Amino acid sequence: MAEIEVARGDGVQTLRLNRPEKKNALTDGMYHALADALAAGEADGAVAAHLILGQPGVFTAGNDIADFLSGRGTGGVGRFLMALVDLAKPLVAGVDGAAIGVGATLLLHCDLVIASPRTVIATPFVDLGLLPENASSLLAPRIMGHPWAFELLCLGEPFGAERAREARILNRIVAEDAVERVATELARRLAAKPAGALREARALLRGDVEAVRTRSLAESAAFTARLGSPEAQAAFAAFLARGTAR
Ligand code: COA
Repeated sequence: MAEIEVARGDGVQTLRLNRPEKKNALTDGMYHALADALAAGEADGAVAAHLILGQPGVFTAGNDIADFLSGRGTGGVGRFLMALVDLAKPLVAGVDGAAIGVGATLLLHCDLVIASPRTVIATPFVDLGLLPENASSLLAPRIMGHPWAFELLCLGEPFGAERAREARILNRIVAEDAVERVATELARRLAAKPAGALREARALLRGDVEAVRTRSLAESAAFTARLGSPEAQAAFAAFLARGTAR
């Protein structure tokens, strides 16, 4: 089974994260597959909306921490994050469980987010010696205001589903077994609309994409510089050592 499953139908391209044994932690190869699929969906006239799903009980545990530690990677994460910035077609997410790190970041780029009551959104970047990514230092305060953005991004406080909805990261909370159905229905509803009008309306609502791109690139440079820092390396090693300590 591919770690990123791609399916198309009813005007919707569905991307499913499929690495459940590692809580859908994202590797360089998975980022490349996501970026490739988003680009293909953008270019396909039969696709009018993107949908991203995880697994029952986990959306994604974020970047693969072993990759962080080793410095492995051939630019997949950068391609994926920039694809999110540059998307012209709407992106819907169905989340059931943990959405951590880049899993939370990507939700800030979604147009609609449907989640289950057991969803937890967390960005432990500072605790890992890292920084907010992909313009979340710009988008999060816009979405929820500075105090809550600071709580999420700097204090590293996990937000449960109710709090995430109050913070306006989520649109709706639905039962665990309804997440995918509701998210798919909403993506299909979007796909059935006049495509040109939807695209223009979305672009107007998103506003200045150039500012998002500029912030994303600035964050990326600072994030990359921090990856090799003693603070970050110690945090990665501590996470991975848990497995041997258990
Ligand atoms: N990178 C690499 N491996 C990861 C991972 C990650 N981000 N998240 C989970 N895994 C691995 C674990 O090491 C474990 O592997 P093992 O079975 O070989 O030991 C496996 O996935 C299952 O994870 P586990 O922690 O046992 O599951 P859990 O249900 O107890 O906890 C999480 C789930 C998501 C809460 C927990 O795994 C976690 O906090 N992950 C790290 C989140 C994070 O900090 N991400 C980086 C953000 S920048």
